[in-house]
Amino acid sequence: MTFTHISVLPSEACFHLNLKPGNICVDGTLGGCGHARTILEQILPDGRLIGIDQDVDAVKNAENLLAGFSNNVNIFHDNFSSLPAILDSLGISGVDAILVDLGLSFYQLMESQRGFSFQKDEPLDMRMDKRTSTTAADIVNRYSEMALTDIFFRYGEERMSRKIARTIVEKRKLSSIASTGQLASLVRQVMPAKLLRTQKIHPATRVFQALRIEVNRELDHLETFMSHVPDMLNNSGRLCVISFHSLEDRIVKQSIRSWEKGCTCPREFPECSCGFIPRLKSISRKPIIPGEREISTNPLARSAKMRVAEKISHMGKPGGIAGNQE
Ligand SMILES: C[S@@+](CC[C@H](N)C(=O)[O-])C[C@H]1O[C@@H](n2cnc3c(N)ncnc32)[C@H](O)[C@@H]1O
Repeated sequence: MTFTHISVLPSEACFHLNLKPGNICVDGTLGGCGHARTILEQILPDGRLIGIDQDVDAVKNAENLLAGFSNNVNIFHDNFSSLPAILDSLGISGVDAILVDLGLSFYQLMESQRGFSFQKDEPLDMRMDKRTSTTAADIVNRYSEMALTDIFFRYGEERMSRKIARTIVEKRKLSSIASTGQLASLVRQVMPAKLLRTQKIHPATRVFQALRIEVNRELDHLETFMSHVPDMLNNSGRLCVISFHSLEDRIVKQSIRSWEKGCTCPREFPECSCGFIPRLKSISRKPIIPGEREISTNPLARSAKMRVAEKISHMGKPGGIAGNQE
């Protein structure tokens, strides 16, 4: 098991998290611990890092790498959508910074042998958390044609979703589809020759993305997490989310916007009756993206976008907080 420590936007994330010695910080996606180690450098000697990953291999790697910091680090094999319960279990009511760096680690993509990459012929698994029950093979071999079409269209934004789903259902009548190689070549066969010539990405890219999102319920967990962010941050605490495709980025952007907005009463109301007040403010209007130099050393950073928000302090203001505005 070899984890790489290359992180996306490492100095930008640390800068925007506004870290200081003594801070309590969360890394919701430990992966190879690149960010975690940079965060620790900024918050020691008294700070605390709460590290989470749903992949047990990442957790074992983190336990080894961060063993020397046991007084400052708590590691959890869990989903970051469970962060409120994790903080409760530690008796922590608020943290100063939260980072989530979504998607797959280099280890998962290239070495885990769980079928995340169409470049390798591996079992169709795609589970980041091996304790969950549904694999990509289960979905491909059991979901209805309509459900497959929907997944490829919604989570992969795949224009050929209907035809791909129909071909999968035809093929699996003869024998089940068990490997990434089988699925990738089936998708390639379905694609019109013109599209194969003009598309810059591998023809199976969108189908693989869609299956991975469905297997790991990635968007649901992200939405749940975002709906709790202001409750978990201390006043002026910072959130950084690094995402890798438009579906994730949209959830993050819209959620920050809704927390920024406050009052949801119709304009014609003479005064506010909903009681909602802004709870986050966006730190950068546009997402922060890696520069050419970072992309040339780490091609996986190519599609990264980082959004940053800060918890607004309402201490001493009348009105209070009316609850979740999602
Ligand atoms: C891009 S890697 C993180 C890399 C890490 N920031 C670094 O510097 O090495 C993403 C990691 O997040 C984990 N992950 C993705 N979604 C998660 C979720 N909802 N809850 C917990 N861990 C998650 C994956 O298992 C993977 O290890």
